[in-house]
Amino acid sequence: MKHKSIRGMEDILPQDAGIWRWLEDATRKNLQSYGYKEIRTPILEDTAIFVRSIGETTDIVTKEMYTFKDRKSRSLTLRPEGTAPIVRAYIEYSLDKISPQLKLYYIGPMFRSEKPQKGRSRQFHQIGAEILGTDSPYADAELIVQLDNMLKLFGLREFTIKLNSLGCKKDKDNFAGKLKKYLEGKKNRLCKDCKERLKKNVLRVLDCKNDSCIEIARNTPNIADNLCTTCKGHFDKVKATLKTMKINFVETKNLVRGLDYYTGTVFEITDPLLGSQDAIGAGGRYDNLVKDLGGPDIPAVGYALGIERIIIALKKKMPTLKTVNVVYVATLGDAAKIHGIQIAEKLRKELPGIIVITDIKEGSLKSQMRNADKNNAKIVLILGENELNAGKVIIRDMIKKEQDIIPRDSVIKEIKKHIEIRPPEEVEPQ
Ligand code: HAM
Repeated sequence: MKHKSIRGMEDILPQDAGIWRWLEDATRKNLQSYGYKEIRTPILEDTAIFVRSIGETTDIVTKEMYTFKDRKSRSLTLRPEGTAPIVRAYIEYSLDKISPQLKLYYIGPMFRSEKPQKGRSRQFHQIGAEILGTDSPYADAELIVQLDNMLKLFGLREFTIKLNSLGCKKDKDNFAGKLKKYLEGKKNRLCKDCKERLKKNVLRVLDCKNDSCIEIARNTPNIADNLCTTCKGHFDKVKATLKTMKINFVETKNLVRGLDYYTGTVFEITDPLLGSQDAIGAGGRYDNLVKDLGGPDIPAVGYALGIERIIIALKKKMPTLKTVNVVYVATLGDAAKIHGIQIAEKLRKELPGIIVITDIKEGSLKSQMRNADKNNAKIVLILGENELNAGKVIIRDMIKKEQDIIPRDSVIKEIKKHIEIRPPEEVEPQ
């Protein structure tokens, strides 16, 4: 019997692993340059951590968590997101004592039992960033500036940053009352789930994807119009800073987010290069979560990006992920083969960062060219007996489909001309 991977849980195959590594490396460098430090938490946590933080009535908790009992009948859950585990670790190890303002990042798999479709899987990966220990609006603004900067570094340009504020707990409760009153009169037109939400967690109605609920949500009161003076002042400063930094954002009145821990600033990033699952990331403030999970009263703000979705968008932008740093050395005949190995060693030594592949099968030129193509080579060096005797080598640019014959001792110089320093848009091959 042939085994298959579990539905919604995908393998990352060698032909894709290079993009993942490139993205992860770029992420680490970018976040570290803003002072973020990495944190790695376990994949399994006590179920209660997620129920308490994400919220008992949210879709994630009611429908999507992989929860099971271990051999000692303890309820465990595969983490559906990274914020709650980080807050758990922050409290457990008193990380507030290390630094009053701590910037943390993580990269890793998350699990939600949703219906799989393009851009939605059951094991997916997030890049996340969290700032703990400050309620300053400048923390929110810096977080969004960094996020915008990193997405552009990845090569994304068309994304939209949707921004809103939910206000403090009191504001949220006040608004929930108003919204409930407004929706009571339109109850019949709400979907079955939203009728329940109306009773238990009315803000979730604004997040519903049902057409009739979307229609009703269009005319509801605006949460950002109901903020107290402090929360309005906070939101105004976030917006003003983003404007000064020339970060484009769209104020979006019904943006409430699918997790209950948010207060104050919330945001979502969408990209038109994706289909219906167009959110490449989202985040916001969660000023009460540390306290709610039993820790000190410490405010925080953060975001998470979906790596699979970023890669879908990148691949759309670059349908041919032809790469910029693979050189294939094609050789014919024993003498050329030995010379080829020497050239390859020299290239590896003198041009760090490039990948050099040689023919190790003694194939025909045709099969070597095919192999070069399969390895996404940007440059092929061709060395046969004639070239060898003339002290030359053929250099072929596989993207431009042009070739030239050059003196062998100028190979490094010529390759440098073809293999540019990789611009951010380019991704590394496997
Ligand atoms: P979230 O909106 O639930 O927020 O997820 C963030 C991102 O993870 C989404 O925008 C999407 O790109 C990706 N994602 C979520 N579910 C899936 C899925 N089933 N398949 C593929 N990608 C998915 C959070 O998780 C919060 N912890 C973000 C945060 C951090 N807020 C504050 N700090």
